[in-house]
Amino acid sequence: MNKLNNSNTNVLVVDDSIETIELIKRNLEAASFRIYIAHQVQSAIAILSSVNIDLVITDLKMPEQNGMQLVRHVSENFKHVGILVITGFPSIEGAVNSIKVGAEEYLVKPFTEDELFNSVERVLNKTFTGRKNRNTTADANTFGIIGTSEPMLNVFQTISKAKSTNATVLITGESGTGKELVARALHYSSGVQTPFVPINCGGIPDTLLESELFGHVKGAYTGANETRAGFFQTADGGTIFLDEIGNTSLAMQAKLLRVLQDKEFYMVGSKKPEKVNVRIVAATNVDLMELVKKGLFREDLYYRLFIINIQLPPLRQRGDDVEILTSYFLSKYAKELGKKEIRFTDKAMKALKVYDWPGNVRELQNLIYRLTILVEDDFIDIPDLPEAFRYSAYQDRGTDRPLVEIEHEYIMKVLGTHRNNISRTARTLGIDRKTLREKIKRIRGNSN
Ligand SMILES: Nc1ncnc2c1ncn2[C@@H]1O[C@H](COP(=O)(O)OP(=O)(O)OP(=O)(O)O)[C@@H](O)[C@H]1O
Ligand SMILES: [Mg+2]
Repeated sequence: MNKLNNSNTNVLVVDDSIETIELIKRNLEAASFRIYIAHQVQSAIAILSSVNIDLVITDLKMPEQNGMQLVRHVSENFKHVGILVITGFPSIEGAVNSIKVGAEEYLVKPFTEDELFNSVERVLNKTFTGRKNRNTTADANTFGIIGTSEPMLNVFQTISKAKSTNATVLITGESGTGKELVARALHYSSGVQTPFVPINCGGIPDTLLESELFGHVKGAYTGANETRAGFFQTADGGTIFLDEIGNTSLAMQAKLLRVLQDKEFYMVGSKKPEKVNVRIVAATNVDLMELVKKGLFREDLYYRLFIINIQLPPLRQRGDDVEILTSYFLSKYAKELGKKEIRFTDKAMKALKVYDWPGNVRELQNLIYRLTILVEDDFIDIPDLPEAFRYSAYQDRGTDRPLVEIEHEYIMKVLGTHRNNISRTARTLGIDRKTLREKIKRIRGNSN
């Protein structure tokens, strides 16, 4: 078996049978290949869009779409990706057809370890020559948004469905999860050149609001020396992105409700109703229903916005996406900064994976940017990482430890996550600030 550089070879295994996937995964991982798995064609296609796959191993007979469609998709859309078909239904016809549409080889189940390795090696040899050094890229299937985790695949699906409608979309998710990225994806993936107008709702003072949103006519008020269009006119035919909609005053909410209901508005100082054709996408990192309950957000506006909801998962719930995003940002910043691409040691990568990521993708992006600038070595190890990561890296120390040690460690981890903010740490831990301070004093006392 070719032992060269297997660790840089990404293999995507697609099969609805968990046993077959496990078998292939176990064998190839033992030979240092990096394995990605999908149980159906659609998830495979999503992975192909965001990871540089070198070899696809796919079953032919699967529910929903069959493997032949994947073979065709790969051979018509991706250069230098090898395709090995496995089939439990050894009809010569199916296998021959898969070769016709682009597979290099086929393998009939059940197969031995040797047969698997031989086929993999032959397919890679056939496709290796001339393979370009590609980088992690994303294409139309993931809208330039990196991720292959289950919750992100759901997000991509909703974007696909929502992009061709004009329905209002509310994007929710913690800070830094990619809400604006999704809003832009919804707009730009329509392929038509129309305006995208983002508005930071919390950023406009109430006194200017109406004229900013709807424009004013000349002489509407002192200082209105000429007629000026507002955001809604500018966005006509395109999308208006109401970012941080939770920060709007009740006055602004009333005005927004009117346009959402009637699709028309009046410019300040004018009695003539203006009609616009605007798609509304809103985003928030707070729970709007909570605001509704507190009387800070209009319930009627809430339901007008909540037609299609795209919920972005926090990074800590995205599994392997942390690793995929890390290599994406490493390669992006190395290129932008003209530096050599650095890599993470396994230990450091593990620390990233168990970290809580309160700032989500933005936090990861900023970390990789800083590391690319600062780290001189070829490898990033745990000591290169900020303090908050160093505690989380040692979580796996078995069960033979006193409770007090675990409490200390956890307190320091939460403290790091909140960047040493005592109030927020105390809130997370469910203790008062005084108790927290005393505990920290004891920990620091202990470690000196
Ligand atoms: N899945 C992703 N793939 C690649 N880049 C991402 C992804 N998610 C977020 N980013 C990047 O992370 C940064 C933060 O994303 P974005 O501004 O869309 O987050 P947000 O949810 O709007 O945050 P906030 O609530 O703080 O406004 C951006 O630079 C964005 O390009
Ligand atoms: Mg944002």
